This record gives sequence, structure tokens and C-alpha cells, in this order.
Amino acid sequence: MNRRRFLTVAGAAVAAPAIIPSSALGRDGNVAPSERIVMGVVGWGMMGPGNTNAFLAQNDCQVVAACDLDSEHLKQAVGTVNNKYGNKDCKAYHDYRDMMARDDIDAVMLAVPDHCHALVAVEAAKRKKDIYGEKPLARTIAEQQAIVKAVRENGRIWQTGSWQRSVENFWKGAEIVRNGLIGKVKEVEVGLPSGHHDFAGTGDKRDVTEPPERLDYDFWIGPSKMMPYIEARVHMNWRWHYNTGGGQLLDWIGHHCDIAHWGLGFDDTGPYEIEGTGEFPPKDAVWNTCTKYRINLKYPKDVNMTIAGGHSDIRGGTKWIGTDGWVWVNRGGFDSSNQKFKEMSRLPDELRKVKLYKSNSHHRNFLDCVKSRKPTITPVETAHHSAVPGHLGLIAMLVERKIKWDADKEIIIGDDEASKLMSRSYRSPWELG
Ligand SMILES: NC(=O)c1ccc[n+]([C@@H]2O[C@H](COP(=O)([O-])OP(=O)(O)OC[C@H]3O[C@@H](n4cnc5c(N)ncnc54)[C@H](O)[C@@H]3O)[C@@H](O)[C@H]2O)c1
Repeated sequence: MNRRRFLTVAGAAVAAPAIIPSSALGRDGNVAPSERIVMGVVGWGMMGPGNTNAFLAQNDCQVVAACDLDSEHLKQAVGTVNNKYGNKDCKAYHDYRDMMARDDIDAVMLAVPDHCHALVAVEAAKRKKDIYGEKPLARTIAEQQAIVKAVRENGRIWQTGSWQRSVENFWKGAEIVRNGLIGKVKEVEVGLPSGHHDFAGTGDKRDVTEPPERLDYDFWIGPSKMMPYIEARVHMNWRWHYNTGGGQLLDWIGHHCDIAHWGLGFDDTGPYEIEGTGEFPPKDAVWNTCTKYRINLKYPKDVNMTIAGGHSDIRGGTKWIGTDGWVWVNRGGFDSSNQKFKEMSRLPDELRKVKLYKSNSHHRNFLDCVKSRKPTITPVETAHHSAVPGHLGLIAMLVERKIKWDADKEIIIGDDEASKLMSRSYRSPWELG
């Protein structure tokens, strides 16, 4: 019996309304504690606070635990939660496994660097938590497959941080395309950022130093190769080294390629041929991820996709080009060859033969699905398929040749060197699954 059911039954059996405050029963407009989704949050860096605050704003959700490997970040996380509820109930965790072991936690929010997505997410799924997990699904294709398997086998609800699907202009654009209103789609352009961005403001601090006491650096490196501590390679800027992240390409693939697939109806498939070229800093550079790239992908139904960063002919965002016109979407932007599409706030119902999933709030959608046990707007399989083209593009650039992908079997065909790059070895004692 799960915690909520237990409390419901126990509450009915005790039946002592006179001593139970109305707030506990939800009669003051609050949701009774027994009906709240109990959450734990992991990772308090750039994304963790925003996600957590979104959940704290929902009154049918109660955050009871926070976890981080940086004691300062952890203190901030716990403080934020306790401040919101006016109590001291939020429990602090250093090791996510201790938090996941709690039976009273129904769901978790994961906003940790890409290199530890798989370890944390698989543990959460095995511990029967529903999961709001960040994009891209993981650092490698094999790790993504492990997450998909664990989430499925354990019957978990998964929402990906690909929140653009819960925003009106992306939904409108994808519905126009899916309803054939720009004709047969031939080309899709996915424009992503290029270069590196110093999110943490570490500037020229590129020296090897001792890790600060507040951070458990060995744990932070986790399954990746141990590397000397350099501040510019840890918080936020981990995405610029392949040991921990995937550069701009993988940082953004789960946003604009995700939207491209949505419009195409390709949430459960992928490309079959991929080639690309990119500019890479030296392998031993502090930041070594690709700075400029152009990847061409062939998809079923004669669709060609270009994913590019740093090429001025590819506009940032997602652009579908069909036989009868085009539609482009980006954050805060919508454009089309058809003036009518620009003027309408949403597609009129008579044109919506295909109605795409509608969500007005990504975090709310997750909580609703935790309750209904229905799929979220970005379930785990969707996150997997949205990110695979980025992984394959990176692999094609690294082996410097065209690769072929079997999207059903999820294998690279006839290329051992490229196939090896679908996974990576784990530093002892870490093991996946
Ligand atoms: N959806 C979006 O729009 C969006 C935006 C930014 C980042 N992200 C994603 O969010 C995730 C986190 O990125 P970020 O920029 O917030 O990173 P960050 O480095 O700013 O924060 C990560 C936090 O996780 C902690 N951490 C690392 N390993 C941990 C572990 N094993 N257990 C517990 N805590 C651990 C770190 O100490 C740090 O506080 C990434 O997957 C990133 O791609 C999504």
C-alpha cells in the first residue's frame, strides 16, 4: 500500500474530525497532506531552483527533501524549501541513494549534470519514484537506453525538462505542421547555439587547484574519468567538456530537435543516415566541446534535417519547410510564410484534425500525470528519441564519416568505432543499473 493510500485508510479508521485541523483535511482550500505528492529534489545549480520553485508553487505537492554534493548549494535548497513552508522539515541529503531509499517520497526532480543523469535516474526509477528529469536524457545513447528501460520496467511517470512543449507558440507551430498545412515537409532546420558560454563566470581561472571543501568532487565526477579539479569545468560549465557534458549540441538538442520531431510526428523514430562536420578545440583543452557544427540527417518519409550551430543560414529555433510553405518557432518567436498562421493565436478547431497534446504548464502536467498515471507531454521515450540525433551527430563528427542508424533496433550499422561511442566506460566503483 502506498503512503497516500495508507494515510487515506488510516484517516478513515481513526475518524476523529474534532482534533484534525481543517487544513489537514483540505477544507481551507489547501490539499490535505494525504493527497499531496511528496517530492525530493536533486541538484541545486542553474536549473534546480527554477524547477523546485515551480513545484513549491503547487499546493498538491510537498517538497520534503533536497540533495546536492555542494554543501552551500544544499543549504540554499533546504533554506528555500523551509522558507516557503515556514518550517524546518526539509531534510538534507548528500547521497542521492539515501534520499531515494525513503518510502514516503513519491516523486523526484533531477537537475544534475548530464554525466550522472543515468545513475541518478535509474536509481530513482528502481526506488519507484516518478521523475521530473532534465534534458538531454543522458550523456550517451546507452545511458539513455538504461533510463528508458528502468522507467518502463518500474512503471514510472516521467516528464522531461523539454518545457518548450508546454508553451503555446511551439504547440501551435507543431500542430500546423502535423496537420499538413505547409504541405509535405521536405526539410527541417534546427538551429542551436555555438561556441561556449561561461555560465559560472569563471573567466580566466583555468588552473588546477584543490577542490573547495564544500564540494565532494570525487562524487561529483562520479562515473566519468577522474580529472584534476579546475573550477571552470565544474558547476554549470561542465557542459563544455566531453567528460561530463555534450557541448551546445547536446545541451540544446532536447529543446529544438524535440520540437522538430513533435511537428513531424517522429517521437518514436529517428534518422537512418547521419553525417556532419564540426570545429573542435584540442582534446586536452579545458573546454573541448565542438564550437561550430553542421549535421545532416536523413529521416523516413524523405525528410532531411539540418542541425547546426554557428552557421548563419540556419536560424536559431526550429523551421519546418514544406511543399506549401514554412513555419519557424523559437522562444518568444513564431514566423511563417503564411500570414494567416502568424495572425492566429491558435489553430482553429476545424483545421485541427490531428490534435497535439496540450499542456499549459510543464510542472503542473507532471503532477497531474503522477495522479492520473497517464503519460506526460514529454515521456521518457520522447526524450530519448529527441536527443538521439544529437548523439549520432556528435558520433558522426568524431569518426569523420557518414553513419547509418537502425532506429528500430537502436544500433549503428556496420561501424564498430562509431558503435563504441554509443556508450562509455564507468569509473570504478560506479556501475549503471
Ligand atoms: N530545461 C532547461 O531549460 C535547462 C536549462 C539549464 C540546464 N538544464 C539541465 O539541467 C541539468 C543541470 O544543469 P545545471 O546547469 O543546473 O547544472 P549545475 O552545475 O548548475 O547544477 C548541478 C547541481 O547538481 C549538483 N550535483 C552534481 N552531481 C550530483 C549528484 N550526483 N548528486 C547530487 N547533486 C549533484 C551540483 O553540485 C550542482 O549543484 C542538466 O541536465 C542541464 O542540461 C536544463
